[in-house]
Amino acid sequence: MLFTFFICLLKDPRTIGALVPSSARLARELAHLAKNSDHVLELGAGTGAVTQALSKVVTAEKLQVVELQKKLAASLIKKYPNLRVLQSAAHLALDNYRQDGSVAVVSSLPFRSLPPAIKHLTIQSLLAFLEASPGSQLIQYTYGLGLPFSVPSGFKWQQVKWIFANFPPACIWVLSKTADMPSVDLSSSLHPSSVARLEVARIRAKR
Ligand SMILES: C[S@@+](CC[C@H](N)C(=O)[O-])C[C@H]1O[C@@H](n2cnc3c(N)ncnc32)[C@H](O)[C@@H]1O
Repeated sequence: MLFTFFICLLKDPRTIGALVPSSARLARELAHLAKNSDHVLELGAGTGAVTQALSKVVTAEKLQVVELQKKLAASLIKKYPNLRVLQSAAHLALDNYRQDGSVAVVSSLPFRSLPPAIKHLTIQSLLAFLEASPGSQLIQYTYGLGLPFSVPSGFKWQQVKWIFANFPPACIWVLSKTADMPSVDLSSSLHPSSVARLEVARIRAKR
């Protein structure tokens, strides 16, 4: 799997976004934060370092794993035959993923290096998902000093901790919807298609 990771890194460095897989320590911290949610959706599973830690704290039925790169997804399916592994872009997986109860979205997506169009689509899908799924949160790490990405009002980032036992050191953040968000106007910062999608999410959430 490591070999496949490095090949993918050479072919598409912006999508992989890291020189080496996540450390076991970082993976454990992410899994610890996710374990009390009703469901866990892992985005950008890569070599499965985080998948491994998640599979130790949540049951297979609760875990959905998503990876964009075909070869990495195929390796994950082989390595974790009991898990649901989907080869897909994260935004498409999010748009089609609905569960009753809270969802921890655990993401290794490299927002700092993703192509702008994919980054934009993915963020809009994440915000729509959080808005439609009460009690859900995004657990994201980043190698930078700032927020993983900026969010409109109605959402808040919470810095959890730095993990120095990772290369490079990573900071874990949690994004959630603020409690009082009856009708957030995201339209000024969103693409029209995303506004439509958020509207659908709001209607679904009210049902
Ligand atoms: C930092 S790497 C993997 C980290 C992973 N925790 C590991 O230890 O291998 C990020 C992963 O996100 C995947 N990725 C990037 N963009 C994606 C997208 N739009 N949808 C799904 N996966 C994506 C990449 O293919 C890559 O495997």
